Amino acid sequence: MSLADANRKYFDTMSDLYDRKPWFAKVNQRVTDELRSRLDWLGVPLVNTGSSSDVQEARLLDYACGTGLMSRLYGPYVTTTLGIDVSPNMVATYNARAQATGLTTSTITGVIGDLFATPQPGEFSGPEYYNFDLATVGFGFHHFEDVIHAASCLRERLRPGGVLVITEFLEGGDLALDENGNPLPDTAGGHDHHGHGHHHGHDHDHDHGHGHHHPDPAQADGPHTPTLHKNKNSALVSPQFTIEEIKKFFAEAGFVDLDVVVMDEKVYMEFAGRKMWRTVLFAKGRRPMEDEVKGDNSEL
Ligand SMILES: C[S@@+](CC[C@H](N)C(=O)[O-])C[C@H]1O[C@@H](n2cnc3c(N)ncnc32)[C@H](O)[C@@H]1O
Repeated sequence: MSLADANRKYFDTMSDLYDRKPWFAKVNQRVTDELRSRLDWLGVPLVNTGSSSDVQEARLLDYACGTGLMSRLYGPYVTTTLGIDVSPNMVATYNARAQATGLTTSTITGVIGDLFATPQPGEFSGPEYYNFDLATVGFGFHHFEDVIHAASCLRERLRPGGVLVITEFLEGGDLALDENGNPLPDTAGGHDHHGHGHHHGHDHDHDHGHGHHHPDPAQADGPHTPTLHKNKNSALVSPQFTIEEIKKFFAEAGFVDLDVVVMDEKVYMEFAGRKMWRTVLFAKGRRPMEDEVKGDNSEL
């Protein structure tokens, strides 16, 4: 079974409940607030932002859309949104939630698909599947088999100058807790040992190196490759990422203007009964314009 198939099976079982827990709503709110405060940082013109660079039309691709966190977050700042996910049940929930807010399918639609499959499924060859201004992947890259291939496939779906922004977990940024909410030893990546409640993270805007993960909380949110390694295509595969790894695979996938920002407070999460604080990061890269001077990685 491929990793995409395993993810489809896993996420199909949980679409109704996926983000209904109160802690999950908090994570989503924090991520929403943070990314909405960084619309300028994206560097791509949107609609309704109040900026002088606002445009009339902006198209969003929300890949591995799940139940639609990223679509809701960026929805007010684009004119149309396409969600794609490998899990039919996640897509059904995505569409049901979008329609419940009164949005029409011409504004937002979710479809089932895997843009990384080879050969590429023919149903995604039409113009409606290309030339997006913004593509986003929320907490999806750690489920992908070959992150360079994935980023490269998404780059092809952007218009020249379009931007890919992803949300992920920082390698070494976890703090695992016991059942009472007390930090487990040696899980903080050499960082903050505050327990529960209001948590002030340190400045995480640097690489933590390869921290320890025990128990490995990354394993509890769906199938992905357990440890960082090179697969047969020399792609990086990891349940979490260092800043360097992210920049490397964005660059190898042909993106420019790379940047990674790390949320300065960890978020509280629970997976399969495990409690933890995790560190969220945002990374972006731009598809170069056709006439832009090509760098070393531009042919990849
Ligand atoms: C952790 S969920 C994140 C959902 C959503 N983006 C969010 O931020 O809440 C990961 C999603 O990735 C989807 N997924 C995993 N591998 C995929 C692939 N190869 N192509 C498309 N979707 C995939 C899963 O079905 C699941 O809905």
